[in-house]
Amino acid sequence: MYLTTPLYYVNASPHIGHSYTSIAADCLARYYRLKGERAFLLTGTDEHGQKIEQAAIAAGKTPQVFVDDVAERFKALWRLLGVSYDDFIRTTEERHQRVVRACLARLHDERTLLHTTYEGWYCTPCETFWTQHDVEAAVVPSGSAACPSCTRPVEQVKEDGWYLPLRESQPWLQNFLRSHKTFIQPSSRFNEIASLLEQPLPEYLCLTRPRQRVGWGIPVPFSEQHVTYVWFDALLNYISAVGYGEDRERFAAHWPADVQFIGKDILRHHAVYWPIILHALGFSDEQMPRLIVAHGWWKIGEQKMSKSLGNIIDPFVVIGTVLKDQPYAADVYRYFLLREIPFGQDGSFSEEAIFTRLSADLANDLGNLVNRTLSMVDRYCHGRLPAPAAIGCAVDDEPLRRSAVGLVPTIEEAMGRVEFSEALEAIMRLVTQANRYIEVAAPWKLAKEADGAHRLHAVLNMLAEVTRVISITLEPFMPSVAQAIWQQLGCGRAPRRLQDATRWPSLASGQAIGPHPVLFPRSDSVSTP
Ligand code: MSP
Repeated sequence: MYLTTPLYYVNASPHIGHSYTSIAADCLARYYRLKGERAFLLTGTDEHGQKIEQAAIAAGKTPQVFVDDVAERFKALWRLLGVSYDDFIRTTEERHQRVVRACLARLHDERTLLHTTYEGWYCTPCETFWTQHDVEAAVVPSGSAACPSCTRPVEQVKEDGWYLPLRESQPWLQNFLRSHKTFIQPSSRFNEIASLLEQPLPEYLCLTRPRQRVGWGIPVPFSEQHVTYVWFDALLNYISAVGYGEDRERFAAHWPADVQFIGKDILRHHAVYWPIILHALGFSDEQMPRLIVAHGWWKIGEQKMSKSLGNIIDPFVVIGTVLKDQPYAADVYRYFLLREIPFGQDGSFSEEAIFTRLSADLANDLGNLVNRTLSMVDRYCHGRLPAPAAIGCAVDDEPLRRSAVGLVPTIEEAMGRVEFSEALEAIMRLVTQANRYIEVAAPWKLAKEADGAHRLHAVLNMLAEVTRVISITLEPFMPSVAQAIWQQLGCGRAPRRLQDATRWPSLASGQAIGPHPVLFPRSDSVSTP
């Protein structure tokens, strides 16, 4: 499986929106690995273009020094969040620039490109060209010409450049979508692109910018006056990183990309321009990406996050300050983002919402189940896992056992639709059911009964097995917590594999459990309901 995230702009430090795309991609990559498949996750940074050049000037640095610094911030964040990428590509790297130059040269040599002048609107924050019609369609309170995507002011430009025909590929793309109905998910995004294609596309896509306006870009091999347009440059990373044009074997081993994660704001670039660029480069329908998944937008309350509103949420602050009392703060953050909203929809971020999830789902439910189970194994079984009931399960146990072994198919179904929140909901339903089972089975009463030992051990074995299943299935979502529970169960270095979550019973009786400090300690901010 080859999975990608967008390349993040390095004009500013990463925020929660960026972290969301990467966590989602990481979660799916980890899920495939848990299933025993090989998954290659690519991420990186988009480092050229006008707005990055402007940001560097504002910071009093050269563009190269500036992008080097910010790219490190992104890498540091992915380390903190456990984003398990296999390659990190920067568009300023020579390996990428070579491929971009070769693609431009090829399109030029094959006479695919047109040399002409564009007159219209340009949005620098989005680094996107807009037509008069697009700009008129933008609904902005100021009434001035604005970007239909980000609503910030656009500027009128008149630029000589090199253009790729777009409209002539429109019938091809429409046909492609007709026969690849699952190319874009969720389906609402597919419909958005299908209806966009009912109107004529702009005649051309510009692939260059004049060097005298934008100095910070990849030089165009056949024109000294131009650098490469940042979107053409950036989209090609998905093929340059895996050896396109240079290493046939490596490229064939990865391409086509299986899942390309993006935010809904860059859907048009990925679902229209990107396939048309590949088509122009001679890629067949079978060589198109398999799936583009567009997620929703994180807002702060009802507001968009933006520098001018001063409401940008920095994940380093959320993890290091807001959640400072949590030993698994990064996993709490991951859980919140993946659980809070159905994938594809917009979400509202607030500290209060994180604390509610932390308190209700993690501390009271998950943490409580693990802690109670292992404390009772300590107390009643001298810290060694008891054997399963010798004569099959008691009637009370069967529903819980069935839910536990039935969890994997439910997760597989949800993950097949990239519905992280549904998969997590299913895991948490099992947690709730197991907590209820504790109340009903009341091991503390069994411990007092003269002939209760046999049943007590059976109950604790059930709970330990459920905890094992939870530890395995949580891995893609909360990798550090999953590992911690695994160690607390005494499973040590044994790998977690999804297929083992359906094997029941599976724990070695007599296995010594590990130390089991509380996973989600309560602090003043974590209220008890
Ligand atoms: N550089 C381009 C992508 C080029 S890919 C070849 C770009 N970069 S970005 O840094 O602006 O955005 C990258 C990702 O972050 C996008 O998927 C975008 O949707 C996501 N987010 C940025 N802000 C966001 C929110 N407020 N909420 C959720 N995700 C958003 O676009």
